Amino acid sequence: MTEASRPRCVLAFSGGLDTTVAVHWLTHTRGYEVVTLSADLGETADAEVLQRRALSAGAVAAHVVDAKDLFITNFVWPTLQAGALYQGVYPLATALGRPLIARLLVEVAREVGASAVAHGCTAKGNDQVRFDVAVGALAPGLEVVAPLREWRMGRSDEIAYAHEHGLEITATTESPYSVDANLWGRSVETGILEDPWVEPPADAFAWTAEPSRAPSEGSELVIGFDEGTPRTLDGEILEPALLVARLNVLAGQQGVGRIDHVEDRLVGIKSREVYEAPAAVVLGTAHRALESLALSRDVLRFKRLVADEWAQLTYDGLWFSALRQSLAAFVASTQKFVTGEVRLRLRQGAVSLVGRSSPTSLYRRDLATYELAGDSFRHQAAEGFLTIFGLPLRTQAAVQGSLWEEGLPLLPSVPRGIATGESSPGGDSDAEAD
Ligand code: ARG
Repeated sequence: MTEASRPRCVLAFSGGLDTTVAVHWLTHTRGYEVVTLSADLGETADAEVLQRRALSAGAVAAHVVDAKDLFITNFVWPTLQAGALYQGVYPLATALGRPLIARLLVEVAREVGASAVAHGCTAKGNDQVRFDVAVGALAPGLEVVAPLREWRMGRSDEIAYAHEHGLEITATTESPYSVDANLWGRSVETGILEDPWVEPPADAFAWTAEPSRAPSEGSELVIGFDEGTPRTLDGEILEPALLVARLNVLAGQQGVGRIDHVEDRLVGIKSREVYEAPAAVVLGTAHRALESLALSRDVLRFKRLVADEWAQLTYDGLWFSALRQSLAAFVASTQKFVTGEVRLRLRQGAVSLVGRSSPTSLYRRDLATYELAGDSFRHQAAEGFLTIFGLPLRTQAAVQGSLWEEGLPLLPSVPRGIATGESSPGGDSDAEAD
């Protein structure tokens, strides 16, 4: 193949062993001219190191893109606003990073006239799905190459390959875990974590203090939202990426954000995952609290369904699907009045709500109060309301018989109405007979 006729491939490059070997492999086994793309979503290696490594492994060009604010603004905030947590717990950090990287791969591929893009995912995970499906949705004509699915090399073979071809790889002692991290969270798997009975060892964590060792006095903070978007931390306006980064540190110090989960991968495998997501946990708690003030009961209820759907679509690699996009329009429309502040206390791994306030709150003290003074609720109206609200059940009971549940056990027989002055075993002598 002549130099001029070699097809181009854009590889998502993290600088780790897998993708470094992939640069060389794509060049020599597949005959590609490799262009690398490293998207900085908050936790990538130094740009210079990445470029040097990619080029010395044989890449013809190495791009590093700072995509932190793009990531938070376009992927994280909408997901926070949706309230989406996969299986109720996972804030989706890795799952949200993939479609953005796919989008950047496609952009660079167009720029450099590439016919293919590549990633370093294995055949057993969700990430390959997210890359493949997203690229297909954005540029159906591009080929997607996954070297790790094709070559038959284990980790030690890869190291041998790297040495044989003089590739620069990290010489430091290798982590016993597979880790993916971006601003929204750190995902840790494999090694000893594969036994779901075993407590994650201290070295599985990098962002969070061991909760019992975190300062016992804890800390308090106030987060300000503007139409569903976090804007301030303790009154200071912060850019999206900075706000998240700062919260990761503040909450991490208090041991907040550890999530230990046995998760269902799309490829049918159950897998034990450990996450660290201090900012995601804090902001999720705060955002929910503000929504409880600002949204109606019906919107809150319907939004919970949307949250589940959104989480699954994102997890399954369907970010760029028509349904996710339509749900995004719905979620955005719910955020108009989600403005205000939330006070939280962080202490030894726990985040608790202290207070919330909103200029557009639907909470009205004059309606909620149990005090007579200042009460504006029309008590008499409850009677008419109940006449109608309870009507179907009364009708059914009258026509078809009482809706009494036969199986329900009777109350334990205790002496009733006899005041003995002594407490009888198992009974409460003060119990009123009625
Ligand atoms: N289980 C998570 C997900 O599918 C995290 C995957 C993390 N990837 C990794 N290389 N450790 O989103």
